[in-house]
Amino acid sequence: MRQNFIHKPVMVREVVEWLQPRDGSFLVDGTIGLGGHAAALLAASSPSGRLFGCDRDGDALEAAGRRLAEFAGRFELRRGNYAELRQWIERGTADSVLLDLGVSSPQLDRPERGFSFKSGPLDMRMDTRQTVTAATLVNEVSAEELAKIFWEFGGERDARRFARAIVRDREQRRFTTTTQLAELIERLSPRGKKTHPATQVFQALRICVNDEVSSLKTGLAGAIEILKRGGRLAVITFHSLEDRIVKDAARERARDYSYEGGVDVPELRQPRVPEIKILTRKAIKPGPTEVAENPRARSAQLRVFEKL
Ligand SMILES: C[S@@+](CC[C@H](N)C(=O)[O-])C[C@H]1O[C@@H](n2cnc3c(N)ncnc32)[C@H](O)[C@@H]1O
Repeated sequence: MRQNFIHKPVMVREVVEWLQPRDGSFLVDGTIGLGGHAAALLAASSPSGRLFGCDRDGDALEAAGRRLAEFAGRFELRRGNYAELRQWIERGTADSVLLDLGVSSPQLDRPERGFSFKSGPLDMRMDTRQTVTAATLVNEVSAEELAKIFWEFGGERDARRFARAIVRDREQRRFTTTTQLAELIERLSPRGKKTHPATQVFQALRICVNDEVSSLKTGLAGAIEILKRGGRLAVITFHSLEDRIVKDAARERARDYSYEGGVDVPELRQPRVPEIKILTRKAIKPGPTEVAENPRARSAQLRVFEKL
């Protein structure tokens, strides 16, 4: 069934300004979602700019295809993980790459995808062809492992207590719905929190189910590899874990020296040619008007890098 998907792309004007698409550019959008950024990039690179877009979510790709119909012949879409960009695109050929991380509004808004607290299956897969769901983790991994997931991917302070309670609870019944999990965490949490008490647990499960950390690390390396010299990479993150990974990877690749053993001793530095230049010393954030119009933009941060 065709559905009406709406997702307001974040910081579109800033993305276009920093990526500087022009006639003839070859643009890559690793998280095409509903095609909002892609449409702006294609419009700005008219009449002959081309775009390669991918997404793990089949529904998103269909919606992006419809959204981009007016640019027919100038774009190619592929279902898959942006971690594979270097397998699909020739090294040194892209003028710019965009990664707009995280989930889209339709993924969050449709209960049947299981990303939100609205009653739905405990799923959270971006790519529904994959077999591991949030329910698999919640019902099958050990308390220690669950606690590690909640802490590392969600920064949840009560990670151990929540994990132990889940394991106790699942001896009586399997967890199948988002509400079951959200209600258990709610019962274990003090009242009066500003956000839903299960926010971190849900974020952590989503990151783990979709293997987001390793996709991001591999994807950043691949994105830099496929860029031309002088080409630009823009990354929009939505939480501190993602932003730290982007910042650390960029600092490492922008350094003109390397060191071994994980400790930077100035006397032992080895000179080397940096791969990228960091164009945004501080992350760019959306302005107040955008945040007022689109609450999802509140936590967005944009960083831009240039390949040397
Ligand atoms: C914030 S939305 C992107 C919205 C898009 N920029 C737009 O203008 O509509 C993030 C999208 O990235 C996709 N995604 C997340 N991780 C991915 C990955 N590793 N590979 C491919 N797509 C991914 C999600 O399925 C989602 O559709």
